[in-house]
Amino acid sequence: MSLSTVTTIQALRDMLKQWRKAGNSVAFVPTMGNLHDGHLQLVKKAKECADKVVVSLFVNPTQFGVGEDFNHYPRTESEDTKKLDAIGTDLLFLPSVSEIYSENHRTSVSVSGLSNLHCGKTRVGHFDGVATIVCKLFNIVQPDLAYFGEKDFQQLTLIRTLVRDLNIPVEICGIETAREADGLAMSSRNGYLSAEERLVAPALYRSLCQARDSILAGEQNYPALEKKLILSLREAGLQPEYFSVCRQSDLMPAGLDDIDLVILAAARLGKTRLIDNVYFSKVLL
Ligand code: PAJ
Repeated sequence: MSLSTVTTIQALRDMLKQWRKAGNSVAFVPTMGNLHDGHLQLVKKAKECADKVVVSLFVNPTQFGVGEDFNHYPRTESEDTKKLDAIGTDLLFLPSVSEIYSENHRTSVSVSGLSNLHCGKTRVGHFDGVATIVCKLFNIVQPDLAYFGEKDFQQLTLIRTLVRDLNIPVEICGIETAREADGLAMSSRNGYLSAEERLVAPALYRSLCQARDSILAGEQNYPALEKKLILSLREAGLQPEYFSVCRQSDLMPAGLDDIDLVILAAARLGKTRLIDNVYFSKVLL
């Protein structure tokens, strides 16, 4: 195996120091593991743009709320390691919870105005957990480039914002959502779906595409469109949490003058929570 695995911050820093001394650039891909083709796509893109690629695998407890799936989140480290090795990852950082959070850990990062919207409304504290761990990982790895999926559009926006606001010297690269053949966005949580639910799940992406096509065809009443698609998702058997036409810059509700839009949606299907989005620019006539 050419992939090295380290579990401590010190071992990681020692390795990075050698690479830096030799003049290598470093790209970083943070994950929570249970890797699928969407994750691997990020790593492949990272490899194209940097000399060395570091992947972290850490199921971050602070981004899971009470009653969420932290204890059941799929942990498949040995399969993940093989997949990462097969695509030429240089270093896997696999820390324990105590390596990352000391007992007296007190600091938290919060991106106000973004953390409480959309997914943040039902997942209270989730985005503070994400912002804090990503900040910590950036400080630990100090990468030149870091790769995130557009599938988690709100997360990507939050990370771009925190990097800008805290002047973190890293370039954030967003990578297109990897999908199954029927359009369902790949996700570690798709494994929770029953066979029956799996057939229903692509309705979320279909409804997002339908909303986008309606807007591109001239629909101007965004609230009515949102309501209509929420109803159609319910009819398909999903329990929508939100379906929102937003502007890309700050994820606030889009007005008719906004050109760069993203439609964000989340829905429950049995025990599984699905999220997805489509983004596009309105053609100026
Ligand atoms: P995780 O859900 O493991 O995702 C790791 C990265 O893979 C994220 O940037 C996510 O957006 C991306 N990703 C997931 N599914 C994808 C898909 N279908 N297509 C493209 N990219 C996809 O997101 C997290 O972990 C955590 O919140 C983390 C950032 C690691 C902080 O703990």
